[in-house]
Amino acid sequence: MTNSVKIFDTTLRDGEQALTASLSFHEKIQIALALERLGVDVIEAGFPVSSPGDFHSVQEIAKQIKNATVCGLSRAVEADIKACADALGVAQQFRIHTFISTSDIHVNQKLRKPFDDVEAMAIKAISYARRFTDDVEFSCEDAGRTPIDNLCRMVESAINAGATTVNIPDTVGYTLPDEFGGIINQLFNRVPNIDKAVISVHCHNDLGLAVANSVAAVQAGARQIECTINGIGERAGNCSLEEVAMIIKTREKHLNLTTAIKHREIARTSKLVSQLCNMPVQPNKAIVGSNAFSHSSGIHQDGMLKASNTYEIMTPESVGISKTKLNLTSRSGRHVIKHRMSELGYHDDDFNLDELYQDFLALADKKGQVFDDDLEALLFDKKQQNQKDAFKIEYLTVHSGSGEFATASIKIRCRDTVQIQSATGNGPVDALYRAIKQAVDIDFEVSDYKISNKGEGEDGLGQADLVVHYQGRNFHGYGIETDVIQASGKALINALNAISRAQQVAFLKQQANQQKSVRGV
Ligand code: KIV
Ligand code: ZN
Repeated sequence: MTNSVKIFDTTLRDGEQALTASLSFHEKIQIALALERLGVDVIEAGFPVSSPGDFHSVQEIAKQIKNATVCGLSRAVEADIKACADALGVAQQFRIHTFISTSDIHVNQKLRKPFDDVEAMAIKAISYARRFTDDVEFSCEDAGRTPIDNLCRMVESAINAGATTVNIPDTVGYTLPDEFGGIINQLFNRVPNIDKAVISVHCHNDLGLAVANSVAAVQAGARQIECTINGIGERAGNCSLEEVAMIIKTREKHLNLTTAIKHREIARTSKLVSQLCNMPVQPNKAIVGSNAFSHSSGIHQDGMLKASNTYEIMTPESVGISKTKLNLTSRSGRHVIKHRMSELGYHDDDFNLDELYQDFLALADKKGQVFDDDLEALLFDKKQQNQKDAFKIEYLTVHSGSGEFATASIKIRCRDTVQIQSATGNGPVDALYRAIKQAVDIDFEVSDYKISNKGEGEDGLGQADLVVHYQGRNFHGYGIETDVIQASGKALINALNAISRAQQVAFLKQQANQQKSVRGV
């Protein structure tokens, strides 16, 4: 049996389905490209039948990804599988992933069918998917709570029907490591055709055991782990990619296993996903938390100064966290910025050096010193500004003080017109948001507003994140600035631009449908 474990990333499917605000089309592409750079074997890009937006983004990811296999999820029904095949057909290599529940609880209470019928549906779905590709994955949903005889029977039938990967999910995060490893072990001992497929695992983290269960499974013979960046996903999340990848690397001799993950890309990918998904990473999170490589106690610091392996089992550099804190100032030249960006893991074509350098100089004039996080924030901000947007703040001013109402005045470009508005509010952000609402004429509600420090110490950049609720959907917006009020304005405008893009997509879809019905299609 091979000792290489495939990493199947489902950040864009299981991870995305758990977010308060969906990712935009461009954000999904950005994450898919980062996953490919990270070296994942399979990118589960979405659930194409679930919405036209999902179909479109899966299709675009399928076009742009060159090395990883692009995968789409489908229930065990033909329409879902066909939607996957249609969206993925353009890919260099693609996989159709189809699933059905197998536990008694799900079969009796959710599907309300005899197990024989469920098995027949799985076989039919797999055979149908094989018409489109040789790479078909089948998942036994809630396998962790499935009676072992039924699980063995379903796995055997799935492989006979043509599944090339069979996934064993602990859908509700219920099992313990020895139990879950035992399930995989029994499958290897009892299913006669088990060597004809790759056995995969997909563990949820309801009891905090998703990573431990996945490791137990690969020790028992599974050779694919399904996981997400930062462990995001339904409820308590999924198995965290960075944790399993670093366990396999750090304990390579003990496990005798490898993955194709490029570990130095981990920190950067984690930051990107946290930022775009509006999902902050807890400081003490293994591998990617801001404290993961900090040493506080005097005894530990003393040990670290003598030899870093006294208290570090892996180096921060090995996951792409640079220890060097080179302080950049307005006297730093373009080549220093270019060099620093490459040390941070960015390639020349990830940014426009001229633009970045101009933004850097402006920031250095405001702040004095510019740190690594500031440079990355500038890069994010530029990407946001470069989109062709419906709304843009041209000018804003806010007055507030104790014992008086705050007032805000703004000038906003709204598509082809310019709006000037002012409003009062309970505080500066409230006044600003009221003024923006008057200008854009969209009836939205803001929730989950937060400000965080992006950067070093008291003069880091302020990042505002919020969720805007509009017509039953949530949109995430963010803005980064030295001034938190300006950042708050940018964040709201960012979310309103996402609403405007969604409106455009809906309008184009409506037009296409009208044209179809005129042609009688
Ligand atoms: O948790 C689960 O069972 C799933 C399947 C669709 C693989 O996400
Ligand atoms: Zn799942």
